[in-house]
Amino acid sequence: GRVDILNGPNLNLLGKREPHLYGSETLADVEKSCQALAGELGLAIRFLQSNAEHQLVDWIQRAREEADAIIINPAAYSHTSVAILDALKAFDGPVIEVHISNIHQRESFRHHSYVSLRADGVIAGCGTQGYHLALMRVARLLTSAG
Ligand code: DQA
Repeated sequence: GRVDILNGPNLNLLGKREPHLYGSETLADVEKSCQALAGELGLAIRFLQSNAEHQLVDWIQRAREEADAIIINPAAYSHTSVAILDALKAFDGPVIEVHISNIHQRESFRHHSYVSLRADGVIAGCGTQGYHLALMRVARLLTSAG
């Protein structure tokens, strides 16, 4: 299966930004470990990051033709973006939402995610391991009934 792993705004600063919340691994480190796990799981991943809402919408639309599942950390757009929600609603495959931090333990404006209205699963507070957990879930969803 083909999996697009999409990352939203400020995640390019992972490892440098608020390490007490998000850890010291960089996004390149996360991509590398996801590539290794994906290989073991027989998945082909495309690992992407953008600070721009329109770019994330365009990638989600492209996934309709080019991916079997989406893993997305929409970052701050989780809490604001009806456009990203609508794009995901037009995608038919599994969608897993990842947050590195436990958004439910943080400011109340982070407790609601528009993306969760579409996500088949949500992982929060597991650090960057959340991406690996999401890959394992996608592997299951693409090979069996779940
Ligand atoms: C985040 C949580 C969001 O609230 C925040 O805006 C982020 C990262 C996370 O991975 O924990 O940028 O999605």
